[in-house]
This record gives sequence, structure tokens and C-alpha cells, in this order.
Amino acid sequence: MTSYALALTWTPSCAAQSHRHSKPRSQSATLYSQTTISATATLRTQKTHTMPQEKIEIFKSLENWASHNILPLLKPVEESWQPHDMLPDSSLPSDEFIDQVRALRNRMAQLPDDYLVVLVGAMITEEALPTYQTWFNQHDGIEDETGASTSPWAKWSRSWTAEENRHGDLLRTYLYLSGRVDMQMIEKTIHYLIAAGMDVKTEKNSYMGMVYTSFQERATFMTHGKMARLAKESGDPVLARILGADEKRHETAYVRIVEKLLEVDPTEAIIAIAKMMRNKITMPSHMMHDGRDPHLYDHLKAVSQRLKVYSLADYADIMEFFIGRWRLDKIEGLTSEGRCAQEFVCGLVHLIKKWRERADEQARTTELRDVNFSWIFNKEVLL
Ligand SMILES: [Fe+2]
Ligand SMILES: [Fe+2]
Repeated sequence: MTSYALALTWTPSCAAQSHRHSKPRSQSATLYSQTTISATATLRTQKTHTMPQEKIEIFKSLENWASHNILPLLKPVEESWQPHDMLPDSSLPSDEFIDQVRALRNRMAQLPDDYLVVLVGAMITEEALPTYQTWFNQHDGIEDETGASTSPWAKWSRSWTAEENRHGDLLRTYLYLSGRVDMQMIEKTIHYLIAAGMDVKTEKNSYMGMVYTSFQERATFMTHGKMARLAKESGDPVLARILGADEKRHETAYVRIVEKLLEVDPTEAIIAIAKMMRNKITMPSHMMHDGRDPHLYDHLKAVSQRLKVYSLADYADIMEFFIGRWRLDKIEGLTSEGRCAQEFVCGLVHLIKKWRERADEQARTTELRDVNFSWIFNKEVLL
């Protein structure tokens, strides 16, 4: 759910011969050479449409497969939970409704301030959903061409958005009723964030986009799971249940799509994975701002890391999981460029241990300090 400054300085032996077989169609003023696989993963400008034109046909040819393997992962609306199911029932007489609000406030009263900050960060991330639907529809071959396209990719993106839409609604209302957060500042942050957008460097390349969402949904599933455990320990089982929703099913869908791409087009798929690893997986709300704290996102990351809701170790775990889940070291029939990407990605396993050690060391040596968060009425939270 976040990004870390991982300098991927490891270079596979094949790097010298590596070259991309396609050129971006626009905005390609990159600051790093595409002919080298060594990356510092920092200074670069935006690139778009890096998926070769002919690969659009791959996504077309997978439409029947997606109808049978991806769309069934969606839940029918009639069987789905809705935010109101988990909130005080506004259809009750006023005193009964107010009793339910009071019970919610009593449960939330136990949650520590640093936990609230991370919860608000998660809610704000969910609330920037218009950005994510827009982002999805920019990807070549899977975009919703009419707004109501019957392609299974478009059906998935609309229904995924509809399922996701409940997350922000529910968390936002829950936090609003708690009385513990400054809703005006939170709403301002959401306003700023949606206006800012996001730049997660998937290049409108659907292979890269599917790798990004696999990683992102797994990260969300993990972080929400940890926040749910902390909520339960602090006496709010309802909030714990809320945080357990949907992300696992969504992860399954995206992981399955990448698995299929690795089967039908292993070279392009492994190159996409390597590129995303070099680009780093960045949290979609990395451009958040509240109008006050110029380092809000970094401060949120620091609190998340200290609470172990999301840390460098989790980033490494997710990478290791995907290398195993997609059996990336076993893929055969790759071109030389694909083998180079494979060597790069699988070589990252050796870096994971170092990253973890570095994260532990960082945690030990970082001097803790207090920062004010506007979301909780400028109360101080330890970073
Ligand atoms: Fe979500
Ligand atoms: Fe999600």
C-alpha cells in the first residue's frame, strides 16, 4: 500500500543485450535509457502506451476466458453487503438510532490516535476511487470504450468499481459518526487527492496495470487484515468486520489475469513484471495533501510502518509471494529479453533479505518524533 525508496541497483548479467521491442507512443522523454535494465528507479518522466499495439489482440482473445474465470469472482448485487448494513440504522426512530450511534462512539473511543491516523489514510485512499476507475480505463485493450461496453474487461472494471465504492462510503460514514476525526480536513484531503490524481507508472500498458493491481489488492488485503486485528484488540469488532471486505476476491482476479498472461504471452508478461518492480509499486494515494502538512504522505507511511500495518517487510513478502505464486523462475520459452527480465525479477529474492534487514535497522535507529495530524484535530502522533 505504499512505496519505499528501493534502489534496485542489482543488474543481471544479460542487461547489456537487453532492449525493448516497442517504443512508447507518446510522452517518451525518459530520463533513463530503455536499453539498460539497471535502474535507480527514481528520476524519470511519464511514459505512456508502452504495450505494443498488436498485444491488444491478446486481451481481445482472452475475453471468453475472462467471462468464465474473472467475472464469476464478482458478487451479485443482491448477495452483496451494503454500507448501511454495518452502520447505525437510520430508518429507526430517532432515539434508537442515536443509541446505535452512541454504541459506535463507545467502541471507537478505545482506538488510539495513531491507529485513527492509519485508518483515515486507508479511508482517504478508498475515497479516491474516481481516479482509479479513470486509471483503469486508460489501459490499452481493456478500456471501457463506450462507458457501458459489454466487453468482460469493461464489465469487470465497472463492477469492481461498484464493489470498491462501498469501502470508502462505509469507512467515511463510520468515521464521521465516531466524532473522533476532523471531517472537514479529511474531506479537504480527499478533494486535493482526487484533483491531483496519481502516477503509478503503469504506462497505459495493460500487462503492467494488471501487475500493479495484483500487488495493490494484496497489499490492501494485508494492511486491512492487520488493522482489523488491531480494531478487535481495541474493542471494535464491527470495524474489524468492515475491514475484512472484498480485497481478497479482487486480488484473486488480478493474480489470475497475470497468471493467464504469463501462460499465453510469457515474454511480455515477465517484462511487465520486471518493469513494475523497477518502477516500484506506489500507493495510489501518494499525492495526498491536506493543505497544511507538505509531508503528509511520508508521515502517514511512517506511522503505518511503526504500527506494522504496512512496512518494508510486507513489500518484500508480497514480492516473494508473487515470485512463488506465478512460478516466475520456472517459466520457459522466453526470448532473450524475457530471460533477462526473469533473471532480474528472480534475482530480487536475494535482495529481499537485505531489504528486511535494512528495514529492521531503520526502525531501530530512527529517532522518533511527534507530528501533528490535521485529521485528528492536530493532535500529536509519534512517527
Ligand atoms: Fe477497497
Ligand atoms: Fe481493493
